[in-house]
Parts: sequence; structure tokens; C-alpha cells
Amino acid sequence: MANVLVTGAAGFIGSHLAQGCLEQGHRVLGIDSFTSYYEPELKRANVAQMEDHAAWTFLEGDLVDLDLISLLDGIEVVFHLAAQPGVRASWGQTFGVYVDSNVTALQRLLEASRSVALERFVFASSSSVYGDATRFPTTEESSLQPISPYGATKVLGEHLCRLYHRSHALPIVMLRYFTVYGPRQRPDMAFNKLIRAALEHEEIVIYGDGGQTRDFTFVRDAVDGTIAAAVDGHPGAVYNLGGGARTSMNEVLEMIADLTGEDLNVRRVAAQAGDARDTAADTSRARAQLGFAPSRSLYEGLSEQVAWHRGESRPVATAPALES
Ligand SMILES: NC(=O)c1ccc[n+]([C@@H]2O[C@H](COP(=O)([O-])OP(=O)(O)OC[C@H]3O[C@@H](n4cnc5c(N)ncnc54)[C@H](O)[C@@H]3O)[C@@H](O)[C@H]2O)c1
Repeated sequence: MANVLVTGAAGFIGSHLAQGCLEQGHRVLGIDSFTSYYEPELKRANVAQMEDHAAWTFLEGDLVDLDLISLLDGIEVVFHLAAQPGVRASWGQTFGVYVDSNVTALQRLLEASRSVALERFVFASSSSVYGDATRFPTTEESSLQPISPYGATKVLGEHLCRLYHRSHALPIVMLRYFTVYGPRQRPDMAFNKLIRAALEHEEIVIYGDGGQTRDFTFVRDAVDGTIAAAVDGHPGAVYNLGGGARTSMNEVLEMIADLTGEDLNVRRVAAQAGDARDTAADTSRARAQLGFAPSRSLYEGLSEQVAWHRGESRPVATAPALES
């Protein structure tokens, strides 16, 4: 049994990660400030699912203000997922929020981590660091050329992690998630919007011609890879975590029409600044070093997300053991 800290524990991926750790018998301290990026009620519902668990402790607070040194006392693994997400909203006046949550909060947590003997510090980075990659699938060695302010904050976050690894020997592992989906997906993300629109017979807005492709990652696979990174991740290394298939938005629309049984009312508008045209992860390193292996096809994972939107609850497969 390990003592783990999950920041952003009320969020989409963080709440699944916290549950995965509890299922394995670990003690979990979850921290979240319930930011208003999307409805805090959704986040409160995510953590409510864990409130009766004896090994679960939750603290509402902002990483920019909290006394992190005392909170880290006794913690062996940090999973740092708290961040202000979203590429489109990162332009303009809201950029300061991105700097606070994605850079300042991370730097405070790294600094505080120097005072404890951590086994691993796992940082949630993003495929957004690549921007419009020129090679597919994209390896971790590819150049970092973000095309959104959000992506730029993640690049800076990775640089900070490397600094603290090199200068202070913090055992840091960085993960670049590729578009994660599944139950509890953030309401601003494409699948959530598309499935809701399909089920409620509303117009579906598609940015660009629908030919843009993504490497979609099922949330439980992202969680399994994240937990594996805390055990087998090489300190200082970065890993792509992606579902392994490149699918266009037009193909996704066909799947959603099939799974919901609805005719979709699609309106196409211009592509948005900051959106990459294509993403595809080369996951060779994660497969070799973390034993990462996506468990579902996109169609299977989407069917679980559609079931969640319909209010049907289906058990998700349990995570691998934290001990290796
Ligand atoms: N969802 C994806 O497809 C995806 C892809 C790439 C990277 N990521 C990264 O994965 C992580 C989780 O993403 P998500 O989709 O679950 O987002 P999310 O918004 O659902 O979760 C992030 C959580 O962090 C909390 N938070 C933000 N700033 C905080 C602060 N200063 N102090 C305390 N709590 C704070 C928010 O309230 C939220 O609950 C983020 O770091 C994100 O950048 C996600």
C-alpha cells in the first residue's frame, strides 16, 4: 500500500485515476479547487463517488495557495493532473489562469517535493506540446512547437520538471496524453458535445472539414499507463500515451450515429486557431517500458461513453497493480 497524492482529483482523468488507486488498495489524498472552467457540480459528483472509501481523503484548495510542504508529508507518489485545460480558451484575457494553474502551481509543487523522499512524481503533459507535428506517428523526440497558449504552458511545465529532475534529483516522469475520452469526459470536449447533441437532437458543430484526425485514448487506458509510470517510468523520461489508432472526426460522427441510433444534424464551421490538424502517438516507448497496451477499440470505448451519457452504469476494468 502506498500513500499517493492526486492533484486535479475531481476532474475527468484525475477522478478515474484516484478510483484506480483506491481499487488497488492505496491511500489517496485528492486535491482540487473546483475551478469554474466547467460546472463545478460535475466535479463534485466525480469525487462524491469516492467519499465513503476509508482510504480516501479529499481537500478542497488551490495549489497556488496551499501549504504544500505539510500536505506532502508521508506521500510517496505524486500524480499531478491539476491544470487549466482546453486549447481554444487559452487565447486572450484568460491566459493568466493558465499560467497560475499550469505553471505556478506546478513549480510550487515541485519545490515542495524537494522536502520529501518521493518514489515518483508523475506530471500530466499533453500531445499539444507537438502542435502541428510533421511526422506520424509522432515520437517523444519530435520537436515541441505548440500552436496554442495552453500547449506552451505544458512545454514550460515539462521544462520545469526536467530542471527539478536534473538539479534536485526529483524522480519525475512526464506523460503526454493524446485526446482522452470515456465516461465523465469534460463537457467542453468533442465527444461529450457530439453525443449530447445527438441524444438531444440538437445541431452538431464541426470545426473544419471533419478530415482532421486524432489519436483518441480511452480514459481507463490513460489511467493504467499513469499508474504504470509511477512504478516503471524512468525518472526524467517522457512517454506518449495514445490509443494507437488515427481516426477522423467524420469517422467519429459515423460511429456516434451508429451507437446512438440518431441521424446527426451537422453544421460545419471554420477550423479554430490552436487546434492541431492531426495527432498520432508513437507509443513504442510506453509499450516497452510501462507495459502500456490500449484495451479497447475506439468503437468499444465510445459505446461506454454513450452508455454513460444515457445514464447507464457499466463497470470499467480494474487497473494494474502499482507494485511491479
Ligand atoms: N483530457 C484530455 O484529453 C487531456 C489531454 C492532454 C492532457 N491532459 C491533461 O490531463 C490533466 C487532466 O485533464 P482533464 O481533462 O481531466 O481536466 P479537468 O479539468 O477535468 O481536471 C483538472 C482538474 O484540476 C483542477 N484544478 C485546476 N487548477 C487547479 C489548482 N490550481 N489547484 C487545484 N486544483 C486545480 C480543476 O478544478 C479540475 O477538476 C490536465 O493536466 C490536462 O492538461 C488532458
